[in-house]
Amino acid sequence: MYEFAPDATLPKPDLYRDLAEAARALIEGEPDPVANMANVAALVWQFVPGLNWAGFYRMIEGELVLGPFIGKPACIRIPLGQGVCGAAAAQAQTQLVPDVHAFPGHIACDAASRSELVVPVIRAGQVVAVIDLDSPDPARFDSEDSAGIEALARLIARAI
Ligand code: SME
Repeated sequence: MYEFAPDATLPKPDLYRDLAEAARALIEGEPDPVANMANVAALVWQFVPGLNWAGFYRMIEGELVLGPFIGKPACIRIPLGQGVCGAAAAQAQTQLVPDVHAFPGHIACDAASRSELVVPVIRAGQVVAVIDLDSPDPARFDSEDSAGIEALARLIARAI
């Protein structure tokens, strides 16, 4: 059993530091990418308040394929360049979307989602996955969230 006690009253940088420490402890010495993605998705869900979906899409043979996540069942395959996830993967850049309805081509997996943060996971210069966070709140994510999830992506890049 792993007990982590996220303190949602902490300033975001401190919350993301604690999330990274928990992730480091869980992935250390574990070579299985599915186990590591599953635990990291669970940690994001536990540490980051206000989410309705958190998880991974993996880059497989030039398209994104659904990976471990918490939330409602989601679309399974996303072509590069499509939707918020496909944009993050194609551009190898974080997508911070305050209003998903204003994002051309947004793919609605859960009608409740209003804002979204997608961060590419880059290993040896290649996008190997994206981390996708959805919120039912408009403009839920800011630059502190993207910095925190980008740090997490760097930390786990060799473990997934
Ligand atoms: N909204 C995403 C699709 C994935 S779901 O949100 C889980 C997108 O536009 O790429």
